[in-house]
Amino acid sequence: MANSDEAKRQAGERAAELVADDMVVGLGTGSTVYFFLLKLGERCRQGLKIVGVPTSLATEALAREQGIPLADAWTAVDLVIDGADEIDPHLDLIKGMGGALVREKIVAQAASRVVVVGDEGKLVGALGSRSPLPVEVIPFGWEATARRVLQLGMAPVIRRRASEPYRTDNGNYLLECHTGPIDHAATLAAALDGIAGVVGHGLFLDLATTAIIGSETGTRLLHRPGGLRRSA
Ligand code: A5P
Repeated sequence: MANSDEAKRQAGERAAELVADDMVVGLGTGSTVYFFLLKLGERCRQGLKIVGVPTSLATEALAREQGIPLADAWTAVDLVIDGADEIDPHLDLIKGMGGALVREKIVAQAASRVVVVGDEGKLVGALGSRSPLPVEVIPFGWEATARRVLQLGMAPVIRRRASEPYRTDNGNYLLECHTGPIDHAATLAAALDGIAGVVGHGLFLDLATTAIIGSETGTRLLHRPGGLRRSA
C-alpha cells in the first residue's frame, strides 16, 4: 500500500470506531472514506446495527457491496464521516472535488456531529491555498452563472470529461474556481449562495467538530477551537 493510502486507511478505520449501534450514519465520499466504508462494512457484517445515508452514487454502491444497510428515509443524522480537500485551523473545509458537495452538505447540515478524515496534506493555513473551490451549477445559463462567479474575483473553469462537461450525481455542471488563499470565507460563501444558478459550493464552514488526521503510523485528532458557532 502506498504511504498516502496507509495514512488514509489509518484515518478511515479510526473513524469507523466512532460508530455505535442505532446510529443514522452519514457516509461521505472519496478515497479516505473508502477505508472507513470497508471497516464499517466489516463491523456491520459482525452485527453492528446502523443505517447509512450515502452522499454519492459511488458511496451508495460501495456501501451496498459491503453490506451496510441504507436508510429508506431520514431527516436527521447522528454522525457523518467525510473527507475534505482542505482543512483549516478552525476545521472549516473545502470539499467537493469528488463532485459530491451538494449531497455532502445536505447530510452535514442534517448531522449532529461531523467528523472529517484526511491526511496531513489536507491541512492548510487558509482555505483556497491549494485546492480550487468546486461550485456546482445548473446547466441552464451556466456561462452567465460562471460570469457572476468570476465577478466575485475567482477564476472558474468548467470541469470536463473528454469534450463534454462533467456531470455531478445531480446532473449538474461543476466549476473549479481558483481563488488563492480566501480571506473572508463566510462572505464568499454568502455571495455564492446568492447566485441563482449556483446549486452549492464547497465551502463547509462551521460544520466539522473533529478531524481525524492519519499518517503512516497512526492518527491524531484535531478539535474545532471553541466549539461550533451554530446552535445545533
Ligand atoms: C467528494 O466530493 C469530496 O468532498 C471528498 O470528500 C474530498 O474530495 C476528499 O476526498 P479524498 O479523501 O479522496 O481526498
